[in-house]
Amino acid sequence: MENLIISGGLPLNGNVRISGAKNAGLPCLIASLLSSEPLRVSNIPHLQDVTTTLDLLGRLGATVELQENMTVVVDSRNVANFRANYEIVQTMRASILVLGPLLARFGHAEVYMPGGCAIGSRPINLHLEGLKAMGADIELEAGYIKATASKLHGAHIFMDISSVTGTENLMMAACLAKGTTVIDNAAMEPEVVDLADCLIGMGAKIEGAGSSRIKIEGSDSLQEHTHHLIADRIEAGTYLVAGAVTGGNVSVLDVQPENLLSVLDKLQDAGADIIVGQNDIQLSMNGKRPKAVNVRTVPYPGFPTDMQAQILMMNCIATGTGSITETIFENRFQHVQELIRMGSDISTSGSTVTVNGVPKLKGARVTATDLRASASLVLAGLAAESQTIIERIHHIDRGYHCIEEKLALLGAQIRRVHDNGTSREHLETDAEHVSGG
Ligand code: EPZ
Repeated sequence: MENLIISGGLPLNGNVRISGAKNAGLPCLIASLLSSEPLRVSNIPHLQDVTTTLDLLGRLGATVELQENMTVVVDSRNVANFRANYEIVQTMRASILVLGPLLARFGHAEVYMPGGCAIGSRPINLHLEGLKAMGADIELEAGYIKATASKLHGAHIFMDISSVTGTENLMMAACLAKGTTVIDNAAMEPEVVDLADCLIGMGAKIEGAGSSRIKIEGSDSLQEHTHHLIADRIEAGTYLVAGAVTGGNVSVLDVQPENLLSVLDKLQDAGADIIVGQNDIQLSMNGKRPKAVNVRTVPYPGFPTDMQAQILMMNCIATGTGSITETIFENRFQHVQELIRMGSDISTSGSTVTVNGVPKLKGARVTATDLRASASLVLAGLAAESQTIIERIHHIDRGYHCIEEKLALLGAQIRRVHDNGTSREHLETDAEHVSGG
């Protein structure tokens, strides 16, 4: 296990280059399964989940070539294994995205049923119901989803919930289905649009991506293409909040500001000065303490659930009281207990937490539980007095490329160490020591 050790209380200042979007990269790489010709994806972030996705594609029989400057070429012409096994799906639940493409191109797919995770039960009923509407036979056997289809056909699908990967799975499947598919109440996230752009570049006929109605005209085959991923709007938002909670001036580069408007709106409400350029966003706090904001997470273009933990942490040291309501996932407040350990004043009632801002947090030994909760603990460590030790930081490596290097460039005092396996009770003692008792 590895820990991050942060000595907080310093304002962050400077520029940080934002990597390609994890949640666009995973589906775009998997889209290669739809074609017998190579797909080249550039601006790929160097993340654990990307490594896992490339491992999965290799196990299915694709050849994967890593080129310089974060470009990957995937050639799925020789794919002959249609099974995503327990080990890989347990590592990354987004593996479910291979279901639609394998079914559409080969008529067969076996994917271990992804379980829940730290933030919720994460059902996939909408993925399966949509594929059944397109003619798939789907059975559950020994924990595996076994899907077959002689040839998928178009369907009019209404999603009860605007599922991001549900929309992506069905959109990919529809690209090779016979006839027209309409997906109503589709997810409108920028990552869905980026996948559609990649598929259209491969020759797919897709209209309406980014709206709640996506129409796909099935093709016989897709062709080779090169796709450049959009920037990771959640990584960008996280670094902007890092500037906000340390009273600094931080600019994020290589981004699409239009994908982050709901987050920028809340940061301005918090008192940040925001200057938006063509591909950059500059946040200046000029030493000011942020003002508390009220947030309700909703599907795009509303405030993203993946920024909830980060903005909640900002409220912890803000002036005033702010409430945060999480409407997407049922268990996405695990960072709250750890933030309270650092001196935050937070009360929870169902899906809403109320945060009374305090002037300063105190460093402590805390535990990361999931990707975005980890990010909020890093932000708390940057804002807190004295030293914070964050355990189990493998969670953060799933979604943040070189986080300690990027933060150090902004002036943070942060380093990664290997945990010596100290037991929890000793950690409590350490925590008292670390936070000065
Ligand atoms: C994607 O997850 C993202 N992951 C998540 O990012 C993100 O938080 C989420 O969308 C919401 O924006 C990837 O893109 C790889 P959903 P996804 O299906 O697709 C319910 C991160 O931190 N639902 O849009 O799994 C579900 O329970 C990760 O980068 C069903 O009920 O999320 C949830 O309440 C975390 N049945 C809601 O819909 C289904 O079949 C939205 O989930 C599917 C979903």
